[in-house]
Amino acid sequence: MARLGKNDIVSIEDLATGEIERIFELADSFAANLERGETQDLARGLIMATLFYEPSTRTRLSFESAMHRLGGAVISSADMHASSAAKGETLADTVRVVSAYADLIVVRHPRDGAARVAAEYASCPVINAGDGSREHPTQTLCDLYVLKRKKGSLHGMTVAICGDLKFGRTVHSLIYALARFGANILAVPYNGMSVPEYVLERVAAERRYGLSTVTMEELRSLAGGIDALYLTPSAPHQMALFTSGVQGADVPRVAAPPAALDAFYLTRLQRERMEDKQGGTGAYGHFDARALKTSRTQAAVVMHPLPRTDELAYELDTDPRAVYFEQAAAGVPVRMALIAWLLEQDGIARTRAAAQAPAIRFKAHPGPRCPNPGCISRHEGAYLAPRFRLGRSDEGATLPLICEFCERELRIEFVGNARTRRYYRFDRNLYGYVRSWIEEASLAVFESVKQAEESGYEPYRRGPQREIMNADEVATACRILAKQLITDLPDLAAVTLVGVVSHGALLAMRLRDLLEAEAHVRPPCVALDVFGGEAAFHPLDGGGPLEVEDRTIILVDDVINSGWTVQRAMTALWQRGRPAAVRLAVLIDRGHRAVPIRPNYVGKNIPTARAERVQVRLAPPEGAAASRARGQDRVVVYSMVESLKEGESAG
Ligand code: CP
Repeated sequence: MARLGKNDIVSIEDLATGEIERIFELADSFAANLERGETQDLARGLIMATLFYEPSTRTRLSFESAMHRLGGAVISSADMHASSAAKGETLADTVRVVSAYADLIVVRHPRDGAARVAAEYASCPVINAGDGSREHPTQTLCDLYVLKRKKGSLHGMTVAICGDLKFGRTVHSLIYALARFGANILAVPYNGMSVPEYVLERVAAERRYGLSTVTMEELRSLAGGIDALYLTPSAPHQMALFTSGVQGADVPRVAAPPAALDAFYLTRLQRERMEDKQGGTGAYGHFDARALKTSRTQAAVVMHPLPRTDELAYELDTDPRAVYFEQAAAGVPVRMALIAWLLEQDGIARTRAAAQAPAIRFKAHPGPRCPNPGCISRHEGAYLAPRFRLGRSDEGATLPLICEFCERELRIEFVGNARTRRYYRFDRNLYGYVRSWIEEASLAVFESVKQAEESGYEPYRRGPQREIMNADEVATACRILAKQLITDLPDLAAVTLVGVVSHGALLAMRLRDLLEAEAHVRPPCVALDVFGGEAAFHPLDGGGPLEVEDRTIILVDDVINSGWTVQRAMTALWQRGRPAAVRLAVLIDRGHRAVPIRPNYVGKNIPTARAERVQVRLAPPEGAAASRARGQDRVVVYSMVESLKEGESAG
């Protein structure tokens, strides 16, 4: 029986140019065989599993048809609601299990980076049939195959890619591939739906390629007066023909300005990827035959990965330049060719040279979290730790990290060294040090000074320290806060105290004890870890889970520095429900804020300079040792020297 090596196709970049060309050769011969009605048995004895966590017509059915046509068999989970995924089974467990039932897994998933995770956990090869808004490599094979058949070559073509370029995964794979073949790409985004920065960065870094971005109106003007590409008419303005580059990018153009367009590639609005499902501003593009009437567009083919919604006129279907149904039909011979090509690898896994730096092993918990809410690492956290590699050095004042799963960039403001337990505000002088800390696995990263200090890190250099509150003054300030709450809130039974970890949580428990002693009401008390992701709230002292709906929430923190922590806490609260009111109680208000948040209840106002750091030390809440330690409660202020100057050693 034929065997498949562990060759995963997660990205179009997993295939070398020669390999794509070989797949097209095979596709030509399968297309001819299909035409003649000939059958194949190349894949006899092999089983392909299709796991589709999102709807599909073309990709799933053409993969299944391809496997049947090659003499293989198919098992399918077309509706994951009818699989154990509906009971909460993770992607990793599912693909591990299915690897025992099949020789090849084809997976579609709504999360960015899911195909990569599937490939890591499956013991058989995995083919990405579309992962979130990231990539759809086999659609690109179909697109390129048809484009080549129509135009004779892929080299140096001019392709206008129009519509939702932000979430359109077929577009991203197509851009990577066209860049490789030296095409001129005109990106024509729908309002606010531009090609994401990470895609532009990748083609710039790996292919030294910059694509041109034009508005629909500019394209209309460039292409010689197309008047049917966009629903909203506006006066086109003149610009040089096909010559606008990525603004500010130091990337050479790959070809001379072309005289005509070879293809329009249209896409639908990916409403399902939008948080509000509403779909941007303004009218979406609408393409009809009038767009093909100018001298610069009349030879262009019209492509679309399908399904279409309103962006493509049905009247075009009979026009020989409309090739979208050919793209869909090519799904069978091209996917047959891909499976046959995998078989040609003769059961041997190709080793790809590691093109990218290895993932960073961070010290200090929690490590960084991917900023992309659609990233698989944000949804399969039970087993999947976020993974980053170092981004390219730039002039910025933040450290660039790239998520290994979805490629989005995270910018880090504070870095630390686990060996010296010092933290620094990042600047470019530190980039070299950070690289060496990564090598010795001692890099820690933080979202804020608060997080760094709560992780036990000290600033790079401290100025002299002075005490600004002793234990008695801390106790007085707590009593002032409790009194303010009792006076201001007649219905203490409706109050819940939410303390920001860690000193805000200690303070919330003290306030709870004072309210019980003074007003005979013991409000529920919950800790909130603003860096804790989905599991941010923890009941204190054995209380129940946080109830938000219709409660008066008192958010408690030790110091209000800039207000960012409070803003983050508010967001976390609102994600849990709609409280009747949220009030803010702080032990110390420093008086300068980066966001317009004012505390409602203040223990003490202590104006300090911006470069100064206020540090609160509070004893733990319970027991005799705790009461003794309360004598050591104090608040200190020190000036902070966070960053290195050129030539200084961070070691
Ligand atoms: N082009 C494409 O991926 O279509 P389906 O969603 O129907 O598979």
